[in-house]
Amino acid sequence: LKIAVCVSGGGTNLQAIIDGIEQKTITNTEIAVVISNNPGAYALERAKKHGIEAVCISPKEYESRAAFNEDFLRRLDAYEVDLVVLAGFLVVIPEQMIAKYRNRIINIHPSLIPSFCGTGYYGLKVHEGALARGVKVTGATVHFVDEGTDTGPIILQKAVEVQEGDTPEILQRRVMEQAEWKIMPQAIDLIANGKVTVMGKTVHISK
Ligand code: GRF
Repeated sequence: LKIAVCVSGGGTNLQAIIDGIEQKTITNTEIAVVISNNPGAYALERAKKHGIEAVCISPKEYESRAAFNEDFLRRLDAYEVDLVVLAGFLVVIPEQMIAKYRNRIINIHPSLIPSFCGTGYYGLKVHEGALARGVKVTGATVHFVDEGTDTGPIILQKAVEVQEGDTPEILQRRVMEQAEWKIMPQAIDLIANGKVTVMGKTVHISK
């Protein structure tokens, strides 16, 4: 399975994927390219350290969002990947990309969807929402990306306990360590080996 990983920040989910491939807990998979909208993303450094091509494509470099969307898709297509992995990517995926890569784009969201997701729920805001509601359990979700925000078919979820005295930062870290960094590599391995079931049906990724 050839994948592109899209990042905007620290790249700890990318690191979990890189480590999974190197430790063979993810099989039949190679990262063809890491794409970031943020030139300063440490995720780009992580890619370079592992000899993975890292490119920066930022909407800020374009005179319009439409021009960015067109160039982003054209440059992604050039890598001829089977799967696009969004790992903390803060750019709205263009409609034409969702259509062209239907059921071939996955995203990780740091809550148990459908809780604390959708517009406005990103980064720490997800965990602030969970703490404000007083949930005892939260977690992370890997799902296919469709036209909505965090609305595509769910692939994997993993629960994480909320503890006394948790701050949003402490909870975010626990969700990343105990859930995100486990289910993101696991989901890629399932897809690479044709073992993803969604709504009870096995999904095969095909170009
Ligand atoms: C994390 O907050 C994660 O929950 C969300 O976006 C951020 C990505 O972090 N998916 P990193 O860049 O993978 O470290």
